[in-house]
Parts: sequence; structure tokens; C-alpha cells
Amino acid sequence: MFIARFLVCFAALIVLPVGAEQSGPGLGVKASETMIENWSLDIFADGEGLPAGQGNAVAGKQVYQQYCLLCHGVKGGGGSAEELAGAEHNLIDNPPDKTIGTYWPYPTTIFDFVSRSMPLSAPGSLSNNEIYAVTAYLLYLNDIISETAVINAVSLPQVQMPNRLGFISTFH
Ligand code: HEC
Repeated sequence: MFIARFLVCFAALIVLPVGAEQSGPGLGVKASETMIENWSLDIFADGEGLPAGQGNAVAGKQVYQQYCLLCHGVKGGGGSAEELAGAEHNLIDNPPDKTIGTYWPYPTTIFDFVSRSMPLSAPGSLSNNEIYAVTAYLLYLNDIISETAVINAVSLPQVQMPNRLGFISTFH
């Protein structure tokens, strides 16, 4: 009797997963390699993952006025959302002014962040040229590049951020 019960339980264990697969909720489709590639937006500090396209701060100002000004304020000075430029204090002041210019160690993070999350109301809606241009504008507002410097997959990773060496690595 005990063995019979044991066998029934054991059989149930084997059968259930197969049954579960057949009678599942049927939601969605299996992600294909192409879908995963299109969703994979990661851009690394060395520029790996940056797409084709380019822009400068002159073009970026237009993008900024149209899509970013409302929340981030005139010249990135802050509004309902974070200040992005124009720091009046440095990082050791209290409170510190954490802008792209005073804080961010890598310029590629601007492209990465904006392409995946901004504008807050419509992430993913900007073209790569618009993102390069607004990235250039934010670097220009922080006095890091000139207004006409062309920012693209090659030049962006080469931009030296003022706080590049301000972080202490705990991985030795
Ligand atoms: C509707 C309001 C809104 C608009 C429009 C908007 N942002 Fe933002 N942005 C935010 C908010 C809120 C945050 C903070 C979100 C967070 O930290 O997760 C933020 C964060 C950021 C940050 C990171 C700041 C930091 O120091 O962490 C950047 C860079 C940025 N936005 C760029 C842009 C750019 C470029 C545009 C225009 C293309 C834009 N944003 C449009 C609301 C907005």
C-alpha cells in the first residue's frame, strides 16, 4: 500500500510539469534573439553599445528646449526635476551640488540614461541623433565641451569628466 502511494506521488511529480506546460496561461511569446537584441540598450563606460548617429550642442539646445526644459529648467539649472548643470557649490559643500559636471564619472552614462528613461513622459521617443545632440548640450552647459564639438560613438567616450577620478574603487 505504502509503495503504491509512493509510486502515485512519484508519477504525479513527473506528469505535473508536462501538464502545467500544456495548460499554462498562454501569455506572450518566446523572446527571439532579435527582440532581445533590440531591448538590450546597455552602453558601457568605454562606449561599447553606442549606436550610429551624432549631434552637437547647438542642435541639442533645440532638443532640450522642446523635451527637457519643462522639468529640468533653464540651462539644466533644475526645476521639478534634478539640476543637470550650473553647479554653484562643489561636492564637499553641504548640501553638495550633484550635477553631471560635478558628479558623473563617465560621459557615456548621459546617453545611456537619456535613451532609456528620458523624457520622463515618453522614454524611447528620441532619435539617436537627438540623444547625441542633447548629450552634447548637457556637456556644453557643464563647460566640458565646446558648443560645436561633434559628439558620436567615437568622441563621446573620449570626453574627460571633471569627477572621473573622484570615485574610490572597492574592487582591487
Ligand atoms: C516630465 C518631467 C521630465 C522631463 C520632460 C525630462 N525629465 Fe529628466 N528627469 C526627470 C526626473 C523626475 C528625474 C529623476 C528620475 C530619477 O532619478 O530616476 C530625471 C532625471 C534625469 C537625469 C539624471 C539626473 C541625475 O543626476 O540623476 C538626466 C540626465 C535627465 N533626466 C535628462 C533629461 C533629458 C535630456 C530630457 C529631455 C530629453 C529630460 N530629462 C526630460 C524628469 C523629467
